[in-house]
Amino acid sequence: MIWLLILIFLASVILFWAFFVEPNWFRLRRVKITGQKKLRKPITILHLSDIHFTGNLGSKRGFFQRLSMLNPDLIFLTGDIIDNSEGIDTAVRTISGLRAHYGTFLVLGNHDYYDYKTVDNIRYHLGLGKTAINRNNVNRFCSELKRIGVHVLINESMKLQVHGNPVLIGGTDDPVTQKIDFEKALHHLSAETLNILLVHHLDALLKLSHHGVDLVFAGHTHGGQIRIPFLGPLVCDSKLPRKYVAGLHTYKDITVFVSRGMGAGRSIFPRFACRPEAIWFEVAP
Ligand SMILES: [Fe+2]
Repeated sequence: MIWLLILIFLASVILFWAFFVEPNWFRLRRVKITGQKKLRKPITILHLSDIHFTGNLGSKRGFFQRLSMLNPDLIFLTGDIIDNSEGIDTAVRTISGLRAHYGTFLVLGNHDYYDYKTVDNIRYHLGLGKTAINRNNVNRFCSELKRIGVHVLINESMKLQVHGNPVLIGGTDDPVTQKIDFEKALHHLSAETLNILLVHHLDALLKLSHHGVDLVFAGHTHGGQIRIPFLGPLVCDSKLPRKYVAGLHTYKDITVFVSRGMGAGRSIFPRFACRPEAIWFEVAP
């Protein structure tokens, strides 16, 4: 009997932690990427992903205040920025408070296109359909983002100088649209530029045939969201090997980073051993 009570107590603590503590326990992670020979000087990047803004900023408010004081060279947002159309104004207002010396760049994710309810999420994770019944107002979201100066990259690229370093930043559409076009997303790719690709879902790289991409930033997996200590994630929404669910890795000679994300969908939000994160990168020669 006592063991049953201990078991119930432990289960309650774990559930309370996963539902109410860890999803709101944000961390700013620091990652250094070296060996980028095309750079003459280091550059700094703030990477945010999978914020899943709704109409209420909630516990993210204080963390965003901290992020707004960072002033990196570049800010990358790799999709699932909103969770539903009610999140558009919150997202635009919050992102407009972030500053980067050379600009903010964003790609869309499946949750930017679709408002996933519980039934849609179940169908998604059972592989019964990647889309949801209700669509978000993604056109208004994109036009609002452009109005505040965010570069929305939907199969597009931009070339710029960052501290005198020639940098290409390309971004794809999300796989859910089945409209990924690497020809357009990497249009300005050259051997002289540091070629950076933003994707929401790293699985997009399965169709990448271009050579010369140096760095890829992605999200989507949320790091698995529920991880068993020492074993890893319970679920890994990717066709790639499990190690690509989060963190810094190499994929076909490309340095890739997959964020654990800052949020999660409204109906599947608990986290365990997988804190929500923003990442401060120093990318150096
Ligand atoms: Fe997400």
